[in-house]
This record gives sequence, C-alpha cells and structure tokens, in this order.
Amino acid sequence: MPNQKGLFITFEGGDGCGKTTQLNLVAKYFEENGKEVILTREPGSIGLGQELRKIILHYDGDIAPTSEAFLFLADRAQHIAKLVKPAIDAGKIVLCDRHTDSSIAYQGYGRGEDIEQIKHLNNIATQGITPDLTFVFDVSEKIAQKRVGNEKDRMESAGNEFHKRVRNGYLEIAKQEPQRVKVIDANLSIEKVFEQVKKYIDKKL
Ligand code: TYD
Repeated sequence: MPNQKGLFITFEGGDGCGKTTQLNLVAKYFEENGKEVILTREPGSIGLGQELRKIILHYDGDIAPTSEAFLFLADRAQHIAKLVKPAIDAGKIVLCDRHTDSSIAYQGYGRGEDIEQIKHLNNIATQGITPDLTFVFDVSEKIAQKRVGNEKDRMESAGNEFHKRVRNGYLEIAKQEPQRVKVIDANLSIEKVFEQVKKYIDKKL
C-alpha cells in the first residue's frame, strides 16, 4: 500500500552488494532535485537499536535462530515507531538501508525460519507500513566475497551456502512482489548500477 504522505524506499541485498553506496547516491539525487531526505538503517539506527545492533552483529555466544529473528524485529519495531513512521507522517522521504525483506531473506530463507510467520511478525513490527519501493541489489557470489573482505561480522561469517540461500530468497521476494521490489544488477560499476536505480527514482520525483 503506498504511504499516504511521505515516501519510504528500502535498499536490500546480500552482504557486499553495494547497496549503501547506492543509497547515498539516491540521497544526493533527491537533494539535487530540492527534496529533503532522511537516511537510516536496520539494524541500529538510533537509541535502543544501536545497542541491539552490537549484540546482533558482535555477540560471540550462541544465538538461536528464533532469538536472532526477534532481535531484528525488536530493532525494527523501535525504528518504525520512533523514526520511520513519524517521518513518513510528516511527509518526508525516508531511505532505509535494509528492512523487512532482510528478515525474510536472512532469517527465513537463510536460517530456515517459517517465512509466513516472519511476514506476520514483520507486519506487527512495522504497524503495517510497507515500503513504496524496494531495491534488491543482486551480485554474484564472487563479487560479494571480494567486497566483504576478510573482516567479517557474525552474519557475514555464516558461510557460502547460507549466503546462496539469502540471494535466492531475495530473488523469490522480487518475483512475488514485482510492483514494489526491483532487482538491480549490481555486478556492474557504481555508475552503471545507479543508472538502473535512477530510472525508478525519476518516477517518484
Ligand atoms: P550491516 O553491517 O548493516 O551490513 P550491510 O552493510 O550488509 O547491510 O549488517 C547487517 C547484517 O544483518 C547483514 O548481514 C544482514 C543482517 N540482517 C538480518 O539478518 N536480518 C534483518 O532483518 C536485518 C535488518 C539485517
């Protein structure tokens, strides 16, 4: 459902897909066109979320898959309530680095949690707010590994098979919701990737 007042755009994809670079380019492009934007991310935008982010990405003990799912969801509920919803209600453009589709791709397809349940919990965490537009940046395994490098956090260390499932999960989400979710070939140069993204942003300007 389109957000009545503001605009909510999310940036998704596997680790090392280059989405944050593109998010910054989109922000610049909106600003050049006289629009004010808010940049944010999950997990860990503000306050409590920053504490949750430390645990999620750097806790070195065992975390059960369902607990992991709830940690991301707790962050999301806080983020929506305290930042995203007020901004959208005020008519702002919100660009968010990862959101609900990350839970479906990583905890659902990646870890094997029940996808319908994750969708249901996402809906609770977001108070029913859905992005107006979502980009999935799709890259080959080889390029993703090169971009991530050797310093890996807990999620990045989850192994090749896990990341393959995440990638396929994103492609499946895009297939199911083609109106909202646009797959971008992110194997190309930054400029070539942005050219693809810009086409969709122009429609929102
Ligand atoms: P981050 O450092 O923000 O990575 P990136 O730059 O790739 O976005 O780490 C976020 C990690 O958390 C990333 O590996 C994806 C994962 N994640 C989930 O597994 N589920 C979620 O719901 C979210 C929001 C992120």
